[in-house]
Amino acid sequence: MKRKPIFLFSGVIALCLSACSGVKHDMSDYILELPYKSDYRILQLTDTHIGDKDNCELHYKFMDLTIKEANPDLIVITGDVFTFASRHTAKEFFSFLDSYEVPWTLTFGNHDEQCFFSIDWLTSELNTHGGYCVFKDVQDDDVQGNANFAINLMKDDKAFEQLIIMDSNRYNYNGYFGYDYFKEDQIKWYEDLVDYTEEQNGGLVQSLMFYHIPLPEVNDAWEAAKKYPDIIKNPENAKEVEAQENEKPCNPEFNSGFFNVIEKKGSTKGMYFGHDHINNFIVHYRGVDFGYGIKATDRVYYEEPLLGGRVITIKDDHSLEYTDYYHSYQEVL
Ligand SMILES: [Fe+2]
Repeated sequence: MKRKPIFLFSGVIALCLSACSGVKHDMSDYILELPYKSDYRILQLTDTHIGDKDNCELHYKFMDLTIKEANPDLIVITGDVFTFASRHTAKEFFSFLDSYEVPWTLTFGNHDEQCFFSIDWLTSELNTHGGYCVFKDVQDDDVQGNANFAINLMKDDKAFEQLIIMDSNRYNYNGYFGYDYFKEDQIKWYEDLVDYTEEQNGGLVQSLMFYHIPLPEVNDAWEAAKKYPDIIKNPENAKEVEAQENEKPCNPEFNSGFFNVIEKKGSTKGMYFGHDHINNFIVHYRGVDFGYGIKATDRVYYEEPLLGGRVITIKDDHSLEYTDYYHSYQEVL
């Protein structure tokens, strides 16, 4: 992790700091492992926004509906996990996740810094939490963000599939104010990770990526989907809720070119994110599935029919299947 340069610095100084600070680590330092099982079920939850003033017990009861029904092998929360939460609330939430005795991991959203703790505290807590938490941020490294790591799903001593967790950062203060984007050092880290994994496994390994703020290309993907609806991967659910794109994607103003690199490397076949609470579509675009997660609580803005979670199933032939789960708070009141 490398902290974002303070915006009061000039652009030149900030650029220098950005390029010069942090220690370069071996790629092996960023990789965790879990065993692969046939039809591996990853439950994506997103934008829980857990906070101190909430009735957390009610949220846990609500999420329990989805988690039990999904029966996952791994739970991934794609950011905005907390908003105005204290350390106590964060630890309670982690205990709740541990109670399922299923590995879980998460990345951060733009709101996770708006809490009664710092992102650095949260990162350290996750690094040392133990339990069923699968998380590793290298805190003294030269890569921007607080959650850049990979989980290799292992089969016969090789990485069968790689799950890449990345931090899409929070807000940009340099040049314009808005949502942040993946930085140059993160993009280089991604390239190094794909190359290292290929070298270690004797061939390109398919990967899926989890992060919070959608890339600018999601707009293009949705425009393509309007023309060619067969590229929408979850049409049944979309029809059911009559809402695939309920809000304009709130992505960064600046395109740092990450998707072009992803397309060129050819490893990543699914990119899953949150951020826009009332979008739920999955679109296949330029060789990659772009998937908006399904919001997991009713905290902050939401649409009642669009709450729950999604299971991404990795099949033995590396194909991907999606199952959307929707629930209502009426079921737990
Ligand atoms: Fe959010």
